[in-house]
Amino acid sequence: MAGKRLQAGLLLVALLCMTMFGYADAENAWEARTTLHAGYAEQPLTQVQIEAILSAGFSMPTGGDQRALDFYVVTQREIMQGMKGGNPYAQALDSAPCVIVVAGDLDKAFYDELLEMDAGIAAGAMLLEAADLGLTSCVLSIAPQEARIESVRESLAMPGNLRPILMIALGYPGGDGISSSSVRRPKNEQIHLSEKKEEDGMILEIDGRVFAATLEESTTGAAFASLLPMDLQMTELNGNEKYHYLMGPLPSYPEQVGLIETGDILLFGDDCVVVFYETFSTPYAYTRIGKIEDTEGLKEALGQGDVKVHFAK
Ligand SMILES: Cc1cc2nc3c(=O)[nH]c(=O)nc-3n(C[C@H](O)[C@H](O)[C@H](O)COP(=O)(O)O)c2cc1C
Repeated sequence: MAGKRLQAGLLLVALLCMTMFGYADAENAWEARTTLHAGYAEQPLTQVQIEAILSAGFSMPTGGDQRALDFYVVTQREIMQGMKGGNPYAQALDSAPCVIVVAGDLDKAFYDELLEMDAGIAAGAMLLEAADLGLTSCVLSIAPQEARIESVRESLAMPGNLRPILMIALGYPGGDGISSSSVRRPKNEQIHLSEKKEEDGMILEIDGRVFAATLEESTTGAAFASLLPMDLQMTELNGNEKYHYLMGPLPSYPEQVGLIETGDILLFGDDCVVVFYETFSTPYAYTRIGKIEDTEGLKEALGQGDVKVHFAK
């Protein structure tokens, strides 16, 4: 009984934290941000929330400091229905209690071609502020489709010098909401470093033999390279790998590699460097550090027990 009361108490504290801080599990607004395509709850936004979201939008930079964005706050369903014209993916407008339209003022802009970037940057800040307030949201693009521009312009009786660019539906998730479950691409695939190609190599010196290796072009590879030269006392495991736990973590983006190949140098977790000397399938996830190019004699050099490996550029 006391256990149940404690559980209920903890639940209440968790709910209070969610209300106070906007998000529960996530540490940052960008982790807490969610997209809800349809099925918003009826609960309206408060004026304070709307003003905070607008302030976030105003706070962002604009190209050439042109400050040529206007923001329309829409809370009437009838107007929102009119704004759906030309967008078959605008279901968010059927239930969202608030929509903010961002428009570029062609009379005020010095650089018309930067208005869409300005709007996108403002939108990013507004999405994060909304997440911070515990709200969900959905970006709907308007420009460059003329049909969408016309329907929004007409619904809001915008003057001709204003070009609506995008809108953000805002609110709380309803019971039957459709959220997006976007699958993030591996960060290593999306991040490119400016280091020169010739700096991507390293050598491993094992028992007097030298093996050339390539370093992964990634933040992990670069972070490993920054530790060189170093001697690692590596521990034997399973007759196919030697590992060593570093003093601190490296950037890690673990992926299921499927097949491990002889010569792979991988990071297990965020601090365990592993050199493999056999090829086999694995269910485990690793981040790539590099690869030994010519593995002839690698197994013999590594031997059957623990071994010291000198890593250098
Ligand atoms: C420029 C832009 C246009 C978008 N247009 C629409 C839209 O017309 N309708 C819609 O439901 N979602 C729209 N979205 C939402 C995206 O589909 C959504 O961001 C994506 O599913 C990933 O969301 P998540 O990262 O929150 O999971 C748009 C997003 C962006 C950035």
